Amino acid sequence: MSDFDKRYGDYLAYFNKRLEEFCDKLDCTPEVLRRSLTYSLMLGGKRIRPVLMLAVADAIKTDKERVLDFALALELIHTYSLIHDDLPDMDNDDFRRGQPSNHKVFGAANAILAGDGLLNTAYSVLFDQCFKGNEYVSAAKYICDCAGVYGMIAGQSADILHENDEIVSEEDLEFIYSRKTGKLITAATVTPSILNDGKYFSELKMLGNKLGYLFQLTDDILDVEGAFEKTGKSLGKDEKEGKLTGVRVYGLDNCKLRVDVIGDDCIRIIDGIDGDTSFLYDFVNFVKTRQI
Ligand code: IPE
Ligand code: IPE
Ligand code: MG
Ligand code: MG
Ligand code: MG
Repeated sequence: MSDFDKRYGDYLAYFNKRLEEFCDKLDCTPEVLRRSLTYSLMLGGKRIRPVLMLAVADAIKTDKERVLDFALALELIHTYSLIHDDLPDMDNDDFRRGQPSNHKVFGAANAILAGDGLLNTAYSVLFDQCFKGNEYVSAAKYICDCAGVYGMIAGQSADILHENDEIVSEEDLEFIYSRKTGKLITAATVTPSILNDGKYFSELKMLGNKLGYLFQLTDDILDVEGAFEKTGKSLGKDEKEGKLTGVRVYGLDNCKLRVDVIGDDCIRIIDGIDGDTSFLYDFVNFVKTRQI
């Protein structure tokens, strides 16, 4: 096992323990509500946002315990975004994380409520942190803004708006990428900085944005040539839904070239951060070469 795999596994185990504790404590009724929330949360998923948040915390020497519940809130928000993203009136995806999407199991109404429930509960988790001090309030607000109408939601809105555009533009793609994917990944890289006197704030913000771009670019590529057994998602959905993707704007081969260019941008940003950044370098490579 590589050092990267080991550290990824350690971060994952640390995070999953907290997530399991959270799920165990959920006792909302009706029972279907609790089951639909935990169904999507416990399906797995790569947990890249919590892992990245913990790794950045280590790199800039922010206590991991301080960021853990922010990572939890972020994963709750991410999971809600996926449940809603898969709905028939959004991307209409039947599979997620290798299993039937939430609405295929519980119906669209319950899936909408599961998403609403995860979002509201995430805010409650964030508010709990706010009692600890001003920097916790700032971190909570940063995550809210990344998730909201100037962040992920704006990207999702533009993603729908630009379906079936006859003329595609790089600007529209950049808007979609930076919001729908970039914002939550930026929340992951920036939160440890906010909790540590703003250490490397601008570098980590740039890194989140670039990593988000890279992550969505590889997501768009995998939609064309990935494998269901690995991604856990139906293939060829973007073309079917007329999505404005990197593949549509640049073509598949140019997208692959861009993966290298954007990956190098990430590396240069990490070069400017002092500390144990070896995991972050490997993380860029993981996103570049991922099949999952
Ligand atoms: C999927 O995110 C949505 C995108 C932003 C492309 P992930 O690929 O991180 O999904 P999970 O959490 O691993 O299922
Ligand atoms: C989803 O982008 C981004 C969010 C859920 C915010 P996609 O629609 O491309 O993600 P997948 O391919 O369904 O995971
Ligand atoms: Mg989508
Ligand atoms: Mg989708
Ligand atoms: Mg996709």
